[in-house]
Order: sequence, then C-alpha cells, then structure tokens
Amino acid sequence: MQLEDQTVIITGAGSGIGRATAKRCGAAGAFVVVTDVNTPAGEETVEAIEANGGDAIFHELDVTDAPAVHDVVDAVAAEHGLDVMINNAGVGHPPSRVEETDESFRDSVFEVNINGVWNGCHAALPHLKEQGSGAIVNVGSLASIRGLPKQAAYSMSKGAVLNFTRAVAAEAGPYGVRANTVCPGFTDTSLVEAMLAGYDDPAAARERMENEYPLKRFGDPEEVAAAIVFLASEEASFISGHGLVVDGGYATT
Ligand code: NAI
Repeated sequence: MQLEDQTVIITGAGSGIGRATAKRCGAAGAFVVVTDVNTPAGEETVEAIEANGGDAIFHELDVTDAPAVHDVVDAVAAEHGLDVMINNAGVGHPPSRVEETDESFRDSVFEVNINGVWNGCHAALPHLKEQGSGAIVNVGSLASIRGLPKQAAYSMSKGAVLNFTRAVAAEAGPYGVRANTVCPGFTDTSLVEAMLAGYDDPAAARERMENEYPLKRFGDPEEVAAAIVFLASEEASFISGHGLVVDGGYATT
C-alpha cells in the first residue's frame, strides 16, 4: 500500500479535499491524524476512515494558532512518529475586487491560507529533518499560478503557498525531506459552493465557469486527494519543489 505504516497529519480534514485525502490516506495504510477547527466534522472523517478498516484519531486544531499546531505535531511525533504533513486547511472568500476588499478581511484570508501553512511546516520540519525522511504536501490552488479576478486576496495567499513550498523543498531536501504543492482547479466542495453563492445567479455562474474547463466540469475532491497522496508517497520519491496542477486542463489550454 502507498502509505503503509506511515503517520500522516492532515489539517482541515473535516470537509472537502481534506476529508477525501484523509480517507484515501487511511485506505493506503497510513495512521491518519485528522485535524480541523470543526470538531464534529473531523470526528465524522475519523468514523469514515475506521468504517473502511483504517486507523485514525482526531485533534481539534485551528491552524492559525501556532502554539497549538506545535503542541499537536509534537505530541503526534512523540507518540506515533511523523512521516507526512499535509497542510490543507484553507478558506475562500466571496467575489471581491481589490479596491472593495478591506484589510481585515484580506488579513483573515492570509492568516489561514498563508500563516496556517507556515505553522504546519514550522512545526513538522524539525521532526522530519531529524528523522531524515518524510514529505510535506501543501494545498495551493489554480490561484497559485493564475490571478483570478475578484479573488485577489485568495490569489495572493495561494501564490505565497507555492513559492513558500519551493523554499521549504530547497531547505529540507538535504535532510531527505520533500515538499510539494498541489494546485487544484475548482473542486466540488463547500468552499466552492460558498464562493458561487456570492454571485447573483450561482447556477449561471457555475455553468459559465464549468464551460471554461476543457472537461466541462469542476473536479471531485477524490481527484485532488489522489494527487496529494501520490506526492506524499514514495512513488514521488524524486519529486520535490513541484506544483502539481490538478485542474482538468484549465490552466494549460
Ligand atoms: P472546505 O471548506 O470543504 O474544507 C476546508 C476545511 O478546512 C473545513 O473542514 C474547515 O473547517 C477547515 N478549516 C477552515 N479554517 C480552518 C482553520 N483556521 N484551522 C483548521 N481548519 C480550518 O474546502 P476545500 O475546498 O476542501 O478546501 C481545501 C483546500 O483546498 C483549501 O486550502 C482550499 O483553498 C484549497 N482549494 C480548494 C479549491 C476548490 O475549488 N474547492 C480549489 C483550489 C484550492
């Protein structure tokens, strides 16, 4: 199995891409540490993994709380070891032009999408480097490589994730640790539903956006999870500093 006997921590694993990834990690033989700010949602993910014969525990965790991130990561590493850190937690925002976006709103997006990823890497790296192996997968976005209109705060945050991860890969590589980013296009989760709800006609906005994709649809969380687990696994043993775009061909066509 792809992640046999590996300990994996996933942030934001109570929903969408994080939940699909946690379930896939469980099915791939990992011990899965499900974390989320939403406790009932995270516990549901654990139940789903266990129902499938997997092994998982839940820790309530807000990724913006740096000391709490360190506490959870240190405790997991001490008790179970740590092989893979998946920094998935992120927030979107309703359509908003730069000049319409106030600073506190912008900063709340940065706090989760940028500092949350920083906190996860900051906490995990000492353990992975000491061990001399392991992988980090950070979840970026199509907005890591494209500037999305009315998504400037989100685009800025996700561009930061991609380049930060490259820096992590450069620093951690000599210790045998890889770091990569997965950059999903629109994927059917509550984040996208909330984004569409910001349009006057969400169904029309969805149809227009789906039509821009060569495959004429949004992605499924499972399709993104497959890419994350691949990069986390030894199958990707010579891939580091990479941004894997999972967007049905949107960015390249
Ligand atoms: P989602 O809204 O379904 O799930 C996000 C999860 O993160 C939720 O369980 C939520 O409780 C948790 N979360 C939010 N703030 C948190 C915090 N401060 N600490 C810990 N957990 C927190 O969203 P989705 O779509 O699954 O998003 C996952 C990642 O994928 C995010 O980083 C998002 O930016 C990224 N992404 C999503 C795309 C999409 O179209 N759905 C496209 C590109 C990237």
